Parts: sequence; structure tokens; C-alpha cells
Amino acid sequence: MMQKTFFTLAALLFAIIAFNSCKNNKYEAFNSICDTTNTKFSAVINPILTNKCLACHNNTTMNGGINLEGYDNVKANYDAVLNSTRAGRMPKDGPLDSCTISKIQTWVNRGANNN
Ligand code: HEC
Repeated sequence: MMQKTFFTLAALLFAIIAFNSCKNNKYEAFNSICDTTNTKFSAVINPILTNKCLACHNNTTMNGGINLEGYDNVKANYDAVLNSTRAGRMPKDGPLDSCTISKIQTWVNRGANNN
């Protein structure tokens, strides 16, 4: 009788621990997922470049000869954009996080469209 109760409690404890560790894993996975469902130029990519690059790479200030203002200029430079951000050289004032770089990479992989 004692033994049965002990095993029941032990099983219950195990189930609770297992359940909670699953919950925690799911939570961590949720936090580290990079959502690249939407990589439209107008909604996602252009705003990233506008915020992070345009101060130094626009129609009048073209550091390193790179202009990232507007679709045509971005399309012409997407290799350089990927290389410089992946290497962490750009932006000058601190690297992009890996999810942001993944979004740019995914947009290029999908054809670098003006969408
Ligand atoms: C604070 C100013 C500044 C910002 C912001 C900035 N850049 Fe630059 N960038 C420069 C300067 C200055 C150069 C000239 C080369 C050098 O000094 O490294 C340059 C050069 C480049 C080059 C050519 C040389 C190389 O390293 O490949 C590329 C491509 C480039 N930038 C891309 C970007 C992208 C993409 C962003 C945004 C994610 C960005 N830059 C943000 C200042 C900036």
C-alpha cells in the first residue's frame, strides 16, 4: 500500500517535471524563431535599410560609393549589402541581429523583387 502511494507520487512528480520542461523548451524555441514569412521589399526590407543604412548611403551621401535609396539602388547592391552585413562591417554603428540579416537573405533568395 505504502509502496503503491510512493510510486504514484513519484510518477506524478516526474510527469510535472517533464511537462514543465517541455513548456520551457517551447517558450525558448518561440523566443528564438526568426519569422521570415513576410520579406516584402516595401513592408520589411526597405524599412530596415532606411533605418539602418540610409543616413550614410543615400542619393547625396554615398559612403564607399554605395547608394541604398530606393528599390533600383538596393537591387543593384544586394550582394554588397549581404556581404557587409553578414561580415558585421555594416552598419558602421553596430551589426544587425541575425534575424534581420536572415530577412534580407530570404528576400534575395526569393528573387529580390520590388514587392
Ligand atoms: C554611420 C554611417 C554608416 C551607416 C549607418 C552604414 N554605413 Fe555602410 N559605409 C559607411 C562608410 C563610411 C563606408 C566607406 C567604407 C568604410 O569606411 O568602411 C561604407 C561602406 C559600405 C559598403 C562598401 C564597403 C563594404 O564594406 O562592403 C557597403 C556595401 C555598405 N557600406 C553597406 C551598408 C549597409 C547595408 C548598411 C546598413 C545595414 C550600412 N552600410 C550602414 C558608413 C555607414
